[in-house]
Amino acid sequence: MARVTLNGIRKIYSEGAQQVAVDRVDLDVKDGEFVVLVGPSGCGKSTTLRMIAGLESISAGTVKIGDRVVNDVPPKARDIAMVFQNYALYPHMSVRENLGFALKLRNMSAEDIDKRVKIAAATLGLDEYLDRKPRQLSGGQRQRVALGRAIVRQPQVFLFDEPLSNLDAQMRVSMRREIARLHQELKVTMIYVTHDQVEAMTLGDRIVVMNRGHVMQIDTPINLYEKPKNKFVAGFIGNPAMNFANGTIEGGGPSRFVAEGGEWEINLPSRVSAPLGSARGRAITMGIRPEDVSVVAGIRAAPATATARLDLVESLGNETFIYARAGRHDITARVSPQNLPPLGSKIVLAFNLEKAHFFDAVSGERIG
Ligand SMILES: Nc1ncnc2c1ncn2[C@@H]1O[C@H](COP(=O)(O)OP(=O)(O)OP(=O)(O)O)[C@@H](O)[C@H]1O
Ligand SMILES: [Mg+2]
Repeated sequence: MARVTLNGIRKIYSEGAQQVAVDRVDLDVKDGEFVVLVGPSGCGKSTTLRMIAGLESISAGTVKIGDRVVNDVPPKARDIAMVFQNYALYPHMSVRENLGFALKLRNMSAEDIDKRVKIAAATLGLDEYLDRKPRQLSGGQRQRVALGRAIVRQPQVFLFDEPLSNLDAQMRVSMRREIARLHQELKVTMIYVTHDQVEAMTLGDRIVVMNRGHVMQIDTPINLYEKPKNKFVAGFIGNPAMNFANGTIEGGGPSRFVAEGGEWEINLPSRVSAPLGSARGRAITMGIRPEDVSVVAGIRAAPATATARLDLVESLGNETFIYARAGRHDITARVSPQNLPPLGSKIVLAFNLEKAHFFDAVSGERIG
């Protein structure tokens, strides 16, 4: 097992126009930790992982595995195993042979290979399939063989690049649990790339949120959710996404949030407005999660309310998503099933301001 340390790593692709794909990323993955890199397509997740694996040269900065700087160490000598989205199993080999192949290349004895293959197969529930060919397996079973090939090598670090994205929704959930269990059992360092925030939230001890080659925040799942450092993280983590409304904080003592356009405003309790002192009069963005918005019977001061037009209702059985328009802002509420007036009606939304987030409208950084 090993710690993985990235120090200011950069990747500049220079075919044609120069492009900075990864820019000064610092990351310290502790021994045995499960770290997930998440972010939109093209943000540099795979490039970062491939630099750790040695599949991509490092333009600047250092990568350390354990105490060793590995910038110039070839992939084979880094003691890592990587599982990709498109794992290619050898079609003419049985599951057993697929699992043992890397060990055979290392000239391990047949007896030792057999031992390790048996352990990996038991861990992944593949015992019954050892003599089958890949084409005789389901997608999830094949994916488990790909995982098994990484496990038998007993690497110091596992690297995963979207290993589940070829599977259907149900299979993804069960494989996700499989990987979580594997991590608990093996207690080995894992770095996992995904663009799926649910996967990130459920698997990661810590999550690295990336955007355009930069790290936006590194934190535990709960901190990312409750204390996003900036508007990007706030909007990326959580589904349905956090609501945002631009506006200003006005008033000296008791202050109000006045939504852009002036069609609605809400009074802020002093607990909420006090930390926003410096933002008074400046353009800010208020963020509030759908579960912190509800529908109430009439306009009230507390909890703060605003009138809105009911645009759409999605009933999922156990909960209901409400899409409404307040002034020039679209607002989503996540509520328990309830009777609602017809679409197009006026409704009153209540905001749980204790849970509101405020960001600088220009920089997107969290205020207060
Ligand atoms: N060989 C290359 N040459 C030039 N640019 C590249 C190369 N490989 C990747 N890029 C660019 O680098 C950026 C980061 O790519 P990367 O594959 O790391 O993204 P990603 O976060 O893994 O995205 P996805 O979720 O789509 O897999 C992208 O803008 C991509 O276009
Ligand atoms: Mg990728």
